[in-house]
Amino acid sequence: MFSRFSMAVVRPPARNFADGLTTVALGVPNVDLALTQHAAYCTALVRNGCTLVQLPPDERYPDSTFVEDTALILPGSGAILTRPGAPTRAGEVHAIRDALMPFFSNAEQIVAPGTLDAGDVCEVGAHAFIGVSHRTNTEGARQLSAWFARHNVSAKTIDIRGIRGILHLKSGVTALDEQRLIVVDALYDHPEFRLFKRIRSPRGEEYAANCVRVNDILFVAHGYPQTQQVLRALGYRLEVLDMSEFAKMDGGLSCLSLRF
Ligand code: GLY
Repeated sequence: MFSRFSMAVVRPPARNFADGLTTVALGVPNVDLALTQHAAYCTALVRNGCTLVQLPPDERYPDSTFVEDTALILPGSGAILTRPGAPTRAGEVHAIRDALMPFFSNAEQIVAPGTLDAGDVCEVGAHAFIGVSHRTNTEGARQLSAWFARHNVSAKTIDIRGIRGILHLKSGVTALDEQRLIVVDALYDHPEFRLFKRIRSPRGEEYAANCVRVNDILFVAHGYPQTQQVLRALGYRLEVLDMSEFAKMDGGLSCLSLRF
């Protein structure tokens, strides 16, 4: 069974969203449109069984809408706060700690010199892949692996530092269910993924490899028809959401919520 979620932490983009970090050249995001897209995303979470913990926008942190990076949650088991690898994002964790406290009073914490963005963590069943990236270092991955081991989750690291166009591991691979991954070309043949059923993300639609399972539904980004066709043919029910403004800031569907 895929973990079922009843809660999601979300935070709308602040007015200075365009001041955040990005590695893509897709133009400047329209904040009003981003807010509309974020509201639609929240509505989809509620429609699919989640009660929202909604944090207010925070202009101190232009990337703070991407709440997923700040914590890793094993539903019903525990949580660990991260130590984001980008200095401009480090302070985002404080508000997330407060938001999670009522649910995970014993949340642990990645500590220096470890860095970890949870967008680098792809869980599939009782296993996790941890991307070593320009945000997550080997020490952060080591600390997270040890935490996972205490929760009976095995973990392997995947070095993505040499792969162009992949900010976080989950920019290039996500779990569709407990056995199946969708993987971009550049990672498809990685030995660690061969034990799992894999779908190759259609060429030119790599952005859509970041999708997110929310209970019985798969959230997928609007504008990627081949990906939708492949997923529908496999029997997945899709919720298609416009992510154009978040894509401009290197953000995907999974980045916008912390689900548990
Ligand atoms: N803009 C999202 C990030 O760079 O973390």
